[in-house]
Amino acid sequence: MNADLVTIRGLYVDLGGNAILKGVDAGLARGRITALIGLNGSGKSTLLRALVKEAPYRGQIAFHCGHDHTKPTPEHVGYVPQKLRVEANVPLTVYDLFGLALQRRPLFLGVGRAARRGMEQALGRVGALKLLHQSVEKLSGGELQRVLLALALQPQPELLLLDEPAAGIDFQGDKEFYRLIADLNRETGVTILLVSHELNMVSLMAHHVLCLQDGRIQCEGAPQEIMNDEALVRTFGAEKGVYSHHHAHSHDGPAKS
Ligand SMILES: Nc1ncnc2c1ncn2[C@@H]1O[C@H](COP(=O)(O)OP(=O)(O)OP(=O)(O)O)[C@@H](O)[C@H]1O
Ligand SMILES: [Mg+2]
Repeated sequence: MNADLVTIRGLYVDLGGNAILKGVDAGLARGRITALIGLNGSGKSTLLRALVKEAPYRGQIAFHCGHDHTKPTPEHVGYVPQKLRVEANVPLTVYDLFGLALQRRPLFLGVGRAARRGMEQALGRVGALKLLHQSVEKLSGGELQRVLLALALQPQPELLLLDEPAAGIDFQGDKEFYRLIADLNRETGVTILLVSHELNMVSLMAHHVLCLQDGRIQCEGAPQEIMNDEALVRTFGAEKGVYSHHHAHSHDGPAKS
């Protein structure tokens, strides 16, 4: 079996007449967490949108899912976008939202037992079961992120695309949220592509890091290699001032903050 779940070769995306991705080559290792880092506007979200065929692209994206298909369906890919492109002000509850997403029959027939079990399981997994009957428009930013993650987990995906999933989540919840993502990966073996500016979190949980710059993957490697490269960290992380090396060795002295 291919060691990569997804292989990306010579990926080009033009948006509004501008070349955004200019020949991206990358692989997403099966069962691993790959982090995608890069400055604002470098094309990280665009890359994820190409992976779910929301952005038109040239080049090759090959999924090696272990199923006999070339076009993965939503059953294989769970996606938590950075921004919702629909207005969230429809008076739907979380329950309705799941009902619509999980079953083919109309909502007025009620939610079937299997769908109900699925939504409870997924919401429970992200610690959001209590939000089941909340209206979507009233969710806080962090609550919405949890609900969207739960939605991406049903049905169990092989690939999870997370675009700054912890944005809007408070500091404490933020660490918890990343831990949840790492647990999901460990327990279910789901392959994850995670966009994040939080390099400290990336260095703790990612198995591999891709750095996107000028429309290409400029460097990649294990987080320890990437994060120890000061020039790189200056380029990719310092903009948000989030870099702090939590697991500093004792002779280096702890990072003061
Ligand atoms: N539909 C569009 N039409 C034209 N330009 C677009 C479109 N969508 C995105 N862009 C441009 O493409 C570039 C890459 O955007 P993208 O959202 O992929 O960046 P990003 O790396 O995710 O940034 P951030 O860290 O801010 O989320 C930006 O310059 C953006 O303005
Ligand atoms: Mg983005």
